[in-house]
Amino acid sequence: MQIPRILNYGSLNIDHTFRVDHIVLPGQTISSTALSSSAGGKGANQSAALAKAGSVVFHAGKVGKDGLCIIDLLSGYGVDTRFIRVTEHPSGQAIIQLDRESQNSIILYPGSNIEITKEEIDETLHFFHAGDYLVLQNEICHTAYLIEQAKKKDMRICFNPAPFKNEIFDLPLHELDILIVNELEGKELSRSSQIYSDDHSFRKLLDKLCTMMPHTQIILTVGNLGSYYGFQSKRLWQDIYQVPVVDTTAAGDTFVGYFLSAKIRGLPVEVCMQKAAIAASIAVSRSGAMVSIPTAEEFW
Ligand code: RIB
Repeated sequence: MQIPRILNYGSLNIDHTFRVDHIVLPGQTISSTALSSSAGGKGANQSAALAKAGSVVFHAGKVGKDGLCIIDLLSGYGVDTRFIRVTEHPSGQAIIQLDRESQNSIILYPGSNIEITKEEIDETLHFFHAGDYLVLQNEICHTAYLIEQAKKKDMRICFNPAPFKNEIFDLPLHELDILIVNELEGKELSRSSQIYSDDHSFRKLLDKLCTMMPHTQIILTVGNLGSYYGFQSKRLWQDIYQVPVVDTTAAGDTFVGYFLSAKIRGLPVEVCMQKAAIAASIAVSRSGAMVSIPTAEEFW
C-alpha cells in the first residue's frame, strides 16, 4: 500500500516575539525584556512538525520576499515547498507576547496568506490523489473551496480551526475526517454558553461535538489538563507530560503534526494521542515556534 502524502495548505508567518511581564492591558504601554523574530504560522509550524516526525509533507501557501527564509527553513526540515508561491506583498506577520508564565497572546496580520487564489489551489490539488491528506488551519483564504475540491478527489481532511472566526460555520464541516480544537474553539463551534474548565465539562463538550459531527474524529486539547479523543462511542483522555515550560508557542501545532504522523504510521489512536502529548511537551520546554519541535531522531 502506498503511504499517504500530506498536503498542508496553510499560513507562513514571521513571528515577532516580545517577552513581557504580563500580557498588555487595554490603554497600557509596557516594555519588553527581549525581542526575537523567527519563522512561524500555524500552517508552517504544522508542516515542520509533520516533516520532523518523518511524514511526507508538501506545504502550499504564499509568502512575500520577506518570507523566503521560511521556505528555506521548511525545506531544511524536509518539507516539499514546490507549492509555496511568492508575491510582491509582505508575508503574514504575528506579534506574540510571551508572559512570565510563558503563556502567549498573538495578533495576526494575514498579509500574503490571504492572497492565495482558487487557480493556485486547483493547480496544487491536481498533484494529489484519493487517500492523501489535506491539512488545514484557519489563517488562509478559500478554506471552503479547498475542503470541497479535496473531498471531490476523495482526500482525507484534517482541520484545526485556529484562530476561530464565525466564518467557520459556513464551511462544509460534515466533510472533515479529523477535527482538532482547543476548548475555546470547541465551545464556539458547539455554540455553547457553558463554562468548560474541568474533566466533566470537557467530556460534555466532546460529546456535543461528536453528536454534531458523527463522521469526524474529534480531538479536544485543553492545555495543561491534557487532551481528549472522541469518535462514535469511543472516548479517550491523554494527560500532559510535566516539563519546565519555556515557551508554549506552537505546542498545539506540534500536537497536530505528531498526532497525524503517528496515525499515518498506523499506530492505534491511544498511542497517537500519547505521542502527540510527548512531542508537545518537548516543544514547550524550548524557545521558539518551529525550532522547538522535536525531530524524528530524538523522538521515535
Ligand atoms: O500556533 C503558533 C503560531 O500562531 C505562531 O507561529 C503565529 O505565527 C500564529 O500563526
